[in-house]
Amino acid sequence: MTQKILLTGGLGYIGSHTYVELIAAGYDVVIVDNLSNSKLSVCDRLAKITGQETSFIQADILDRSALSQIFAKDAFDAVIHFAGLKAVGESVEKPLDYMQVNVTGLVNILQEMQTANVNALVFSSSATVYDVSNVSPLKEGMPTGYTNPYGYTKLVCEQILAQATHANPELKTGILRYFNPAGAHSSGLIGEDPRDIPNNLMPYISRVASGEYEFVRIWGDDYPTPDGTGVRDYIHVDDLATGHVSSLHALLDKGESHLVNLGRGQGYSVMDVLNAYSRACGRELPHQILPRRAGDIAQMYADVEQAKQVLGFEVCRDMDAMCATSWNWINTGAKDG
Ligand SMILES: NC(=O)c1ccc[n+]([C@@H]2O[C@H](COP(=O)([O-])OP(=O)(O)OC[C@H]3O[C@@H](n4cnc5c(N)ncnc54)[C@H](O)[C@@H]3O)[C@@H](O)[C@H]2O)c1
Repeated sequence: MTQKILLTGGLGYIGSHTYVELIAAGYDVVIVDNLSNSKLSVCDRLAKITGQETSFIQADILDRSALSQIFAKDAFDAVIHFAGLKAVGESVEKPLDYMQVNVTGLVNILQEMQTANVNALVFSSSATVYDVSNVSPLKEGMPTGYTNPYGYTKLVCEQILAQATHANPELKTGILRYFNPAGAHSSGLIGEDPRDIPNNLMPYISRVASGEYEFVRIWGDDYPTPDGTGVRDYIHVDDLATGHVSSLHALLDKGESHLVNLGRGQGYSVMDVLNAYSRACGRELPHQILPRRAGDIAQMYADVEQAKQVLGFEVCRDMDAMCATSWNWINTGAKDG
């Protein structure tokens, strides 16, 4: 029988790409999203890509009665929980909002799952939970820490999941620590669409490429890295999406909980990303070197052995593919709403 998956935050950046991969893998998927950081038009776009109607419920994960109705109506085999707030800067200004949506939101989902006897959950964690003193490649067993309220909520959520699975051995969880998702679906119909000034490098560069911003700001070029700019691990959002399908297989077919990094296992410097985007858009993009930013570290990239061994997961797309699909999205889908 077809397995049914509840996707919270499924109209957002990573959720929408994961939806496409889940449909392609034969799952029946229901999306729940409150549209706080996404648009209803994504439903139509997903229908265009998948060739089937998108099953969508507009609801807030903080609304317990809406959630219990959703769990009462359908018998879900698993939940993939993307819904949450993710802007680091905003989390410093509004820490309580982040605790409420990210932490209380997860607890709500877990309690509803328990009531409905749903025992598999994939959770969006982040590389931000690694302590900044760790030396890359970052391995899952390394010390954790946080430097801002957003990171704190992700770490607390991981700890809540550890305690919930300890108390209920039936519950299986896939905790996925994403490195930097980038790029867009090859159709150009879905992609990252930040409402404000983007926090992340690639959406910022894409706005320089489209002429919205004048130049790319590079915070420091005197780090101990090959070209002096900061090095990070970027993963194509379509690769990240297939990682969720692999995680579901491990939970539903093998009954195995896991905590794994999802990255490429390779670092790209800010200059590497800028040069790749310049190739993708066909012109050299202007940049300015600024002083280092407080709290930034020289380099950070994933050890991907665990993802390979536990999930059989490997990435297929490189930085050129991330930039080309991002630029395609900026020129097509992102423009018309
Ligand atoms: N994008 C990244 O760089 C990154 C990195 C690591 C982890 N993550 C995590 O992955 C998850 C998805 O990230 P994304 O980049 O797709 O973000 P996104 O903002 O594009 O998607 C999140 C979706 O959740 C919805 N949402 C927010 N609050 C909600 C609520 N209370 N009830 C229902 N829906 C709600 C939003 O409308 C949005 O559609 C988040 O939990 C994020 O913290 C993202």
